Amino acid sequence: GAIAALANAGVAVEVVEETGSTNADLLARAAGLSGPLLLVARNQTAGRGRAGRSWLSSSAGSLTFSLAWRFEGGLPRLSGLPLAVGVALAETLERLGVQVGLKWPNDVLRDGDKLAGILVETQAILQGGVWAVIGIGLNLAMPDELEAQIGHGVASLPWLARMDRDALLAALLDGLAGALRQFERAGFAAFAARWNLRHAWQGEQVCILDGGRVLHRGSAAGVDDAGRLLLDTVDGRIAVLAGDVSLRMK
Ligand code: ATP
Ligand code: BTN
Repeated sequence: GAIAALANAGVAVEVVEETGSTNADLLARAAGLSGPLLLVARNQTAGRGRAGRSWLSSSAGSLTFSLAWRFEGGLPRLSGLPLAVGVALAETLERLGVQVGLKWPNDVLRDGDKLAGILVETQAILQGGVWAVIGIGLNLAMPDELEAQIGHGVASLPWLARMDRDALLAALLDGLAGALRQFERAGFAAFAARWNLRHAWQGEQVCILDGGRVLHRGSAAGVDDAGRLLLDTVDGRIAVLAGDVSLRMK
């Protein structure tokens, strides 16, 4: 079927009924991998987001998967990777007829609410290079109980939920693999304009938070060629690195 076709494109595919976190699983296995591996969980019981937050999903209404991809060179080569993944997701969804926006650094929004989350975790390889584990959670149909638990607006795509799951996954993976190959060649510079085209908060007054502390305030002006958020502050334009900081409207 559609998923098997991916294996032909040089990406090995494994589907499990249930696991804690596909990101945790692939990180644990990265050292032993010989090539890219896609791990799909029909159900995830301990999904994680950035900074120790959790990602909630239901087997009926979510896609949860991770892709392990080996990059040559050091960690700095991966700067902007989560944003490039956001561009790849957005472009694939658009091909399927769904318009989305991007929120820096790692969220895909639909009508202002979070539709998908991206979590990139890395593991250095002793002989050089880095394994990146790229985790994606996409809401298709969000049960009310789950939305109540998440506690803020979430978006879902009931229309896409009716599409064959494996065909959807294959389309997303195809877009992702293409984007990763381009990222390997050209870095985030090849994605910056495509990211800015979809910037959901362009021109909005925002603040950058580190934990509860406000680090910067200003008007969001898109990203630069390294994936840093450009912020027009009272002291002029600054570029903010993603790290563990959060972006809020204010
Ligand atoms: P940031 O702007 O720092 O990324 P965030 O609130 O988006 O902040 P993340 O770590 O990116 O935080 O994502 C985890 C958050 O996503 C959780 O705190 C939770 O509020 C929310 N969340 C969890 N599950 C879902 C889901 N299925 N759909 C949408 N949002 C979810
Ligand atoms: C975020 O918004 O902070 C990122 C959420 C990432 C969720 C996905 S679901 C598949 C993969 N496995 C995980 O435990 N997390 C990612």
